[in-house]
This record gives sequence, C-alpha cells and structure tokens, in this order.
Amino acid sequence: MPEAAPRKAKVAVLISGTGSNMAALLYASRLHRATYEIVLVASNNPDAPGLALASAEGVPGFALSHKGMARADHDAAMLQAIAESGADYVALAGYMRVLGSGFVSQWQGRMLNIHPSLLPRYKGLDTHARALAAGDTHAGCSVHLVSDELDGGEVLAQTRVAIQPGDTAEALARRVQWAEHQLYPRVLSDYVAQSSDPEYLLGKVRELALALPAAHEKASMGAPGWRVGSEKSGRYFAYFNNRHHGSPHVALLVKTGGMDELVNLVEAQPESYFKPMFYGASGWIGVILDRPDPDWDNIAGWLERSWRAVAPPSAVKLLRASGDI
Ligand code: GRF
Repeated sequence: MPEAAPRKAKVAVLISGTGSNMAALLYASRLHRATYEIVLVASNNPDAPGLALASAEGVPGFALSHKGMARADHDAAMLQAIAESGADYVALAGYMRVLGSGFVSQWQGRMLNIHPSLLPRYKGLDTHARALAAGDTHAGCSVHLVSDELDGGEVLAQTRVAIQPGDTAEALARRVQWAEHQLYPRVLSDYVAQSSDPEYLLGKVRELALALPAAHEKASMGAPGWRVGSEKSGRYFAYFNNRHHGSPHVALLVKTGGMDELVNLVEAQPESYFKPMFYGASGWIGVILDRPDPDWDNIAGWLERSWRAVAPPSAVKLLRASGDI
C-alpha cells in the first residue's frame, strides 16, 4: 500500500497592520511542496491592509477591534475564531497586542512570532533605533516560540542584517523586512514539518526509550524496536511504526493492560490512539506521534509503563535506584 502523504498543517495568522509578513507566509504556502496552508487571517484592527489582501486571495478573515474591550474578552473572541478555523498553529505577524497567559498556554509550542531584532537583544519596540544608538554592526530578525515573557520564548532562527554607514531606523527597518520575508516562511515550514517528520519523531522516541535501564534497540521486521534485558533474551516494550500496514500515522506501539483498556482509549481519544494491525489483538496500542502537539510526558509515561510490563526484576531495581519511581 502506498504511504499516505502527510497532511498540510493549518495555520492561523494574526496581524495588526500592513501584513507583509503574512503575505510572505501566504505566498510561500502556495509553492510546490509547501508544508502548511493558511486557514485564517485575524486582526484586532478591522482596517488592517493585510485583511484586504487576505480576502482578495480567498483566505478567510476575522476582524474585531480591541477598543473598549477587556483583554480577556478580546483574547477569547480571537481564540474562538482560531478554533473555528481548525488551525493547528498560530503565527503572529505584527500582531500588536500582548496576549494573556491563558491564550499563550493554550498555544504553547504551537505559536510563533517574528521580531525585528537579534533576540535576546532589544525586546519590545523601537528595535532599529536602539540598535543604531548602541552602535551595533548588525541588526536582524528572529522567529521565536511565544511564551509568557514578551519576546522571550525559544528562538528558532535568526537572520543578521548589516548596518550601513549613515543608516536610519526607517532604512534599516526596510532591509530587515526583506530578511523577515525570507526567514518566517522557511522557519514556519520547517517547524510544522518537524511534527510529521518520521526521522525527527524517531529521534525523540529513541532518546526516551534508551533512557530506561537495560534498554537496547533492535529492529523488528525492519522497524525500530526497543527491548529490555540482555541482547539474547530481552523482551520488546516498544516499536516505532512509520505509517506501516496502511496506517496513516507515525506511531509508537506500546503495551496496554489489555483489550478493554485499548478499546476504551481508542474510542475516547481517536486523535491520540489507534489499534494497530497485527499487534492490536495482544493489547499493543498505537500512540499517534505525528500530530501538532504530541504530549511527550504522556509518551514517556507509556514507554515506562510498557517497559515495566516486561522488565526483569533486576532492571526494575535499577529504575528504582535512579530515583524515577
Ligand atoms: C514586522 O517588522 C515584524 O517583525 C514585527 O512587526 C512588523 C510587522 O510588519 N513583529 P508587517 O505587518 O508584517 O508588514
């Protein structure tokens, strides 16, 4: 059976003004092999020129002025519009509102922003004037994950832009924007693709599986698997499943307590679990990895539980000794 193509990630873009970064993201999303599509452009400024561009391009828009509204109410309305769009990710692109912590935590790890400086330098406003006043040789832009600290989340990538003799803040801002328009689509594209990239997911799972005592990796019918115990008599506690046997998922296979638990989990959380072909009957469950927000603590928990189900007492003692119990 041919492998199912990973679906494109759905992205909502939030703007307040011109929307040139939004436009760069949008046109990049229409290129061959794009990894994401833009499902919504939302703004706190109904007159934002970017809204008109999005509408002309057939992208759904949402506008709600924040004037006269409590922050929490405005945030809630934006969140609802984003939820209705079905977005997996949010890209802030010149969105001039500080988001409340509820908004931020709901989109933790799935919300990016572009900032016109080489973070951690010059958080906040007037970045170019500050870089010039400091006599810096370079300004630039950063794409970062959004956290509770303003412009303080993990930096994913940056582009340096040389400052020229006699530069003004306006001239520098224009050149930094050229760099922004290259940087943001690339970083967003790589970031969303990562969550469905089997190599990346395998690397994460491998690290967790091999951190368990007496664990080693051994391929099983061509797929990576992890066993506990000796090379000779070890037992499998996990398998990596890359869209095998017609499954559309990249998944981790681990042992449940039995058929009842498996069926209940698959029924209650079909976005997280499935019953794998061939293994399902013996209580192995598929934990879906290629989704926008895999819960790595939950995945680590499953690995440990599955490991415990087959680990020899000597190995369990090691886990206890490591203080993980
Ligand atoms: C950009 O310079 C971006 O770095 C900052 O706000 C500006 C938005 O410009 N966060 P535009 O609306 O994308 O043209």
